[in-house]
Amino acid sequence: MPSLTIIGAQWGDEGKGKITDYLDEKADLIVRFQGGNNAGHTIVVGDKVFKLHGLPSGVVRPGKLAVIGNGVVVNMEELLEEIDHVEAEGGSIDGLRISDRAHLIMEYHKKLDGAEEKYRGKNVVGTTKKGIGPTYQDKIARIGLRAGDLLEEDFLKDKLTFLLPYKKDLMDMLEAEKCNCTVDSLFEKMMGWKDHIGKNICDTSVLINDALDDDKNVLFEGAQGAMLDIDHGTYPFVTSSATCGGGVCTGAGVAPNRLDEIVGCLKAYTTRVGEGPFVTELSGDDEKALQQKGGEFGVTTGRGRRCGWLDLVVAEHATRMCGFTALAITKLDVLNDFETLPVCVAYDIDGKKVEHFPASIQKLEKAKPIYKELKGWKSWNDTEALVKEGYDALPQEMKDYVEFIESYLSTPADIISVGPDRKETIDRRNGEWWN
Ligand code: GDP
Ligand code: IMO
Ligand code: MG
Repeated sequence: MPSLTIIGAQWGDEGKGKITDYLDEKADLIVRFQGGNNAGHTIVVGDKVFKLHGLPSGVVRPGKLAVIGNGVVVNMEELLEEIDHVEAEGGSIDGLRISDRAHLIMEYHKKLDGAEEKYRGKNVVGTTKKGIGPTYQDKIARIGLRAGDLLEEDFLKDKLTFLLPYKKDLMDMLEAEKCNCTVDSLFEKMMGWKDHIGKNICDTSVLINDALDDDKNVLFEGAQGAMLDIDHGTYPFVTSSATCGGGVCTGAGVAPNRLDEIVGCLKAYTTRVGEGPFVTELSGDDEKALQQKGGEFGVTTGRGRRCGWLDLVVAEHATRMCGFTALAITKLDVLNDFETLPVCVAYDIDGKKVEHFPASIQKLEKAKPIYKELKGWKSWNDTEALVKEGYDALPQEMKDYVEFIESYLSTPADIISVGPDRKETIDRRNGEWWN
């Protein structure tokens, strides 16, 4: 019953799409378990670039089941558009399955997302405005609409009849953008979704657990990253879902003893989109240089990502919250040709050395990074040749950088990523990921 989970070890955009695509060659099912189309996962296969938001990365390889689990929030309208794009690029959604328990993102959630931000004052989160937070709020408030509701028309109409006036009052109160829909127009639109995608809706927990019982390979694809977790991230500057290890169980409907390998996807430096504390953040030209070199612009919103040095206090927190059994270190090529590479190993807060990531935003705002300076390495000419030669042929300083991370986190860095393409990957397990 092998399962493999990929989770971002920082604030998202670590390269999870690339690593999922690399590791899912031998997977039978690829499962998203949290988040929604706030995610932007890039997969590069030769001259084709797929940018996925709501769809699991598995749709890029035909013949696999791509599962949207119960913990995900789904914008059906945007999902249908995304499906058109993926199919035009040669992907396939024949294997797409959507949990009947997954909650639906409605137009009013998107409008409320924008309106709520206006009321947060200095705690503005900088959300993707995709309606993620308001949809999870409804789920917890027990007034959400679920994918399975599309299959029960009378029940759905009843629900809309009480829900829509409530949402409209709320939108008026928060001075949100108006939503002109009526119960009838909304119901009709949702029946259109059902016609397109109703056949793909099922109990995905049964599907996944049966697959594991049958010794199929199941890959759980995380979205966002550990530091955006609703409980363990930099609250309130987080997303609204459980992005860490436990989120796989609740969000896919599998028990904890079903989880085998958990791969932490760790960018060789740090980025963050939106607001919130970022202790190793650079500024001015230094930040711009890293942003340009790494192409650090959001896949979902196009916003420039904030950039800074690697923060191992963050990575230790993520490793503890997620139980990483291995690391995939990405974007090491972006660090080529730096003279020295500072790596944060602790924080100085009010003169005290702090080694564990604190909960308090006030403390984090005062935290100064304590760096260990590592030596940089020179760039190489031919990535294909470098990958072919394998880990031992990497520049010594780069291996020192990798091994410093491994030793700090007591976790092996089994994947080294030196470019966006599937092929630009050094696999220290030689493909032995599924026992
Ligand atoms: P995700 O949200 O974690 O899937 O990451 P994104 O796709 O939002 O951002 C990662 C970006 O880095 C994408 O443009 C990837 O194509 C790119 N990328 C991934 N791995 C590497 C790598 O090792 N080197 C370089 N240069 N780019 C990479
Ligand atoms: P992937 O899967 C980076 C950030 C937003 C904002 C905060 C809350 O591509 O790594 P939300 O819309 O979720 O309520 O916004 O979370 N955020 C991400 N940052 N990568 C992501 O996804 C993100 N998804 C949300 O920028 O700060
Ligand atoms: Mg992304």
